[in-house]
Amino acid sequence: MNTDKTSAPAMKTALVTGGAGFIGSNFVRFLLAQEPQVSVVNLDALTYAGSLENLRDLPDPSRYEFVHGDICDRDLVLDLLRRRSIDTIVHFAAESHVDRSILEPGRFIQTNVVGTHVLLDAARQFWLVERGVPAEMARFHHISTDEVYGALEPGAPAFDEQTPYAPNSPYSASKAASDHLVRAYGRTYGLAFTLTNCSNNYGPYQFPEKLVPLMLVNARKKLPLPVYGDGGQVRDWLYVEDHCEAILTVLKRGRVGESYVVGGDNQPTNLEIVRTLCAVLDELQPDPTCPKRESMIQFVADRPGHDRRYAMNITKIRTELGWQPSVSLAEGLRRTVQWYLRNESWLAAISARPEYQGWLNRNYRGR
Ligand code: NAD
Ligand code: DAU
Repeated sequence: MNTDKTSAPAMKTALVTGGAGFIGSNFVRFLLAQEPQVSVVNLDALTYAGSLENLRDLPDPSRYEFVHGDICDRDLVLDLLRRRSIDTIVHFAAESHVDRSILEPGRFIQTNVVGTHVLLDAARQFWLVERGVPAEMARFHHISTDEVYGALEPGAPAFDEQTPYAPNSPYSASKAASDHLVRAYGRTYGLAFTLTNCSNNYGPYQFPEKLVPLMLVNARKKLPLPVYGDGGQVRDWLYVEDHCEAILTVLKRGRVGESYVVGGDNQPTNLEIVRTLCAVLDELQPDPTCPKRESMIQFVADRPGHDRRYAMNITKIRTELGWQPSVSLAEGLRRTVQWYLRNESWLAAISARPEYQGWLNRNYRGR
């Protein structure tokens, strides 16, 4: 396939999968606001991680359609591509939580591997066999993760697009498999794709099973703040709006058949993240009964196979496409705490769901 082809911003109707989840809902909002010519179809199964509450107050809802369904349903996907003449697929839908993948790996294979294959196959049928939209307008953008590269030894260079895949969890293995399928559809059938491998996102609408919002939920309920192992694991953190902008940049200017590493260019430990959240909370919402919330930190049993360190080399997307993160980690964490404080009812509703309480019991009780 022609890897030199740079896309024109021809997008008219985008199918966003998983648009009721954390990053997907931020992206739907971002895309509608940034691209007035684009209509968005959001296909989401509304698993425990998806919520229509994440999609309130969309800019110009007349350009938006929600479809409740599973990406593994080929007939549904193909009907949708045909009915709406979809020219762009932005694929977020996934099982996304590493801890859940350790307890229930099968669901990750089904959605992340089989589901991605169904989307690729339906796209191939509509774009390349039926020629439902001109081939030069079609694009499959796959959202993936830095976790496909495994863990870095101390002092090893940061991940870049040449780093060999070495996934360590069922989640990252399933994402790696989906990345390979996307690439194979490009090579074998000429499906026009781009791929981004991004680091840890944080920001509004993140489901409170992940580190940042979990700490905010627990702090609100005056519960212990569970840090796995010694808390010395290193991650790269990216504010979710910066990720949305990176994806749109790749859709508009990225080279077909290429992948781009995306990150915030920072390497704090988990403990530093939790301590920062505590300090911002202490300042914005002082609690006289617990003046220093970091005293609530509790070290608990480590995650099996826990990757010790990630770091991102974002030179390619920075130099080739001119994208770089615009929100610093300190500013992003502050904005995130402010958002969760202003949206207490969202957090309270989502964390009161029986499924969520069940998850907390399974993952943390006796840990
Ligand atoms: P999320 O868990 O918050 O949301 C996933 C969404 O996908 C939910 O709305 C869910 O209902 C939907 N979904 C799940 N299975 C589905 C199916 N079979 N059919 C249709 N919809 C289904 O996930 P997120 O954190 O927003 O992550 C989105 C994507 O970005 C994932 O592919 C993930 O691997 C990737 N990613 C996430 C991060 C991060 O830090 N959160 C970082 C890098 C990459
Ligand atoms: O790196 C990108 C990945 O980031 C994405 O692909 C995943 O979809 C996303 O969930 C995220 O994975 P992590 O496992 O890094 O995110 P999580 O928020 O679950 O954990 C972040 C770090 O914090 C990790 O080292 C584990 C640790 N942790 C997490 C939880 C939930 C704790 O110490 N305590 C906790 O209770």
